[in-house]
Amino acid sequence: MKGVFPVEKFKGVQTPFYFYDTKVLRETLETINREAGLYPNFRVHYAIKSNANAKVLKEICQAGLGVDCVSGGEIKAAVAAGFAPEKIVYAGVGKSDWEINLGLDENIFCFNVESIPELEIINELAAAKGKVAQVCFRINPNVGAHTHANITTGLAENKFGIAMEDMETVINLAATLSNVNFIGLHFHIGSQILEMDDFVALSNRINELQDRLEAQGIKVQHINVGGGLGIDYQDPNGNPIPNFKDYFATYAQHLQLREGQLLHFELGRSVTGQCGSLITKTIYVKQGHHKQFCIVDAGMTDLIRPALYQAFHKVENISSDEPVETYDVVGPICESSDVFVKGFDLNKCHRGDLIALRSAGAYGEIMASSYNCRTLPVGYVTEDFD
Ligand code: LLP
Repeated sequence: MKGVFPVEKFKGVQTPFYFYDTKVLRETLETINREAGLYPNFRVHYAIKSNANAKVLKEICQAGLGVDCVSGGEIKAAVAAGFAPEKIVYAGVGKSDWEINLGLDENIFCFNVESIPELEIINELAAAKGKVAQVCFRINPNVGAHTHANITTGLAENKFGIAMEDMETVINLAATLSNVNFIGLHFHIGSQILEMDDFVALSNRINELQDRLEAQGIKVQHINVGGGLGIDYQDPNGNPIPNFKDYFATYAQHLQLREGQLLHFELGRSVTGQCGSLITKTIYVKQGHHKQFCIVDAGMTDLIRPALYQAFHKVENISSDEPVETYDVVGPICESSDVFVKGFDLNKCHRGDLIALRSAGAYGEIMASSYNCRTLPVGYVTEDFD
């Protein structure tokens, strides 16, 4: 089965471009609100790094989610889109002074702090403004995730977070600094995680750490488990909405929240992934000796995930219903890794056919580059074609 696209209306639009299906996005957001809403202590933030398209942000903001930022630019984008600063959490191993100052000026909810030097600088910059910054510590839980090596973040050798054995040291240090207020713990084990057991492992680890802190009389108001819920790249039509029910239920069942504690989530891919497709045009169909190539006008500059992570994006010829043939679908960039998929069955391709690369709403448009002096792709939503 193919996705539903307004193909006739796409004609004449400069390719490649991103198309965001507003219906899918809204259904996703409704499901999140319904499933997380079963648990009054749950707070969902949107990881804006996955997609900062203004039209997409507008929908997410209207749904009432908070936002997770990792740069000053993202804080600006979130504020411009209308997200309330008191719902912004800000993570990142290397926050520059101007970015910390921006967070302080906007009175964001919390800085997720990843090292002692960062804590000291936040304290210093907050003092200069006569403010007290709320901080969570990002703890590296040393929990692996069953996903691609480039997108696991919770193992001991990753650059992220503070080691578990240093947790009390940083909390005690924060207590001695007058311009930071320690409010919680932050975690994130990786991305594109489909095995709920990985989230169980994180919950178990957090329970252990909480027991340890409780024994020392240390109070924690907020727990933030980051993001990571994966999507079905193989079957975006069969599974357009990720399994939020099991995801939230897993945490509800396994993570022992203490009295009054709030549990925060930072979901990126699972919010935006399935609503987006990269639409590209077939420039040439080239016959090789052992294979044929469908050469399209989108490249790794528009969607880098296949080249960078060997990621699979389902490809569909949305202009043709002719019997399928097997193709390597490749872009025009001067790099041999500029290949979207190899040996893939598509309805017979012709010059000019529109091709959709599915499940590209997360880490697609936002990771585009202008390598080869190419123009950045534009992002459209359903309403742009009404
Ligand atoms: N919170 C933190 C601290 C993160 O580092 C990330 C993603 C998220 C939340 C959101 O994770 P999600 O729900 O999207 O899995 N460019 C890669 C993914 C990098 C993820 C980086 N951190 C990709 O295209 O697969």
